[in-house]
Amino acid sequence: MAQGDPDRYALLGHPVSHSWSPFIHGLFARQLGHDIDYRLIEVAPEQFRGTVLDFFVNGGRGANVTLPHKQAAAEVVNELTPRAQRAGAVNTIAAREGPRLLGDNTDGAGLVTDLVNNLGIAPEGSRILLLGAGGAVRGVLAPLLACRPAELLVANRTPARAEQLAREFADLGPVGASGFAEIGASPWDLVINATSASLSGQVPDLPPGTIGTETVCYDMAYSRSDTPFLQWAESRGARRRHKGWGMLVEQAAESYLLWRGQRPATRAVLVALEAL
Ligand code: ATR
Repeated sequence: MAQGDPDRYALLGHPVSHSWSPFIHGLFARQLGHDIDYRLIEVAPEQFRGTVLDFFVNGGRGANVTLPHKQAAAEVVNELTPRAQRAGAVNTIAAREGPRLLGDNTDGAGLVTDLVNNLGIAPEGSRILLLGAGGAVRGVLAPLLACRPAELLVANRTPARAEQLAREFADLGPVGASGFAEIGASPWDLVINATSASLSGQVPDLPPGTIGTETVCYDMAYSRSDTPFLQWAESRGARRRHKGWGMLVEQAAESYLLWRGQRPATRAVLVALEAL
């Protein structure tokens, strides 16, 4: 790489074409006066390991990883931060001296920062229903339990995967597991959709009583229009519904901090996304 070239970053995923990460990191870099080049790399699971190593051997400074590679990424790196170790999933890779690759997981910090700082939601003492049991849930379980909810239920289409997660994280707080049909009839305080159902235009098949008018509904997925889950929540009368834009921006800011030692301000970036 020639001197004076921008520092190279990328998002690896399958699919990635819908991603707003280049836009967000571009705004962060402009805000801080940094010269970076952030690209999307579409990569199938069979090519993931080789593509990551190739990117860093050729001078890449950092990468984000999205579905379906977050668990595979934890196997590729040389070292994990404690939170990535706990999650068993990586969404951020940083090149370190050696050369070595450090894997981190900024998803949970991104979600909690969005809930608490941006949306004014207090998870402490509340009943939280977390839908899904994949890499996205792995990343957010420990930070959510650190907020000391009264109860956190992981519900998944395949209940065995939820049960596995509840066992793994039981030492951190009151976490349970179930299938969708067994969720129960009383409305939850906060329901977070971390399934990938929205990607195929579907909604998890939840019992009608899951959501009431006071239930805060949060979809980790994001799109310009309402996601299928939030449309469903609206049809159940939920007044407070949020898409995952804030989590996207906050986890990106945490990644940027790991890569470059400075956490960009996020408010202006959220405003820019809203304006679009
Ligand atoms: P991610 O890294 O985004 O979590 P993943 O590991 O592929 O991706 O997990 C996808 C999650 O979405 C899983 O919990 C999956 O449920 P299963 O474990 O039963 O496969 C869930 N999911 C995907 N499509 C779904 C749908 N149509 N309805 C309900 N859950 C769905």
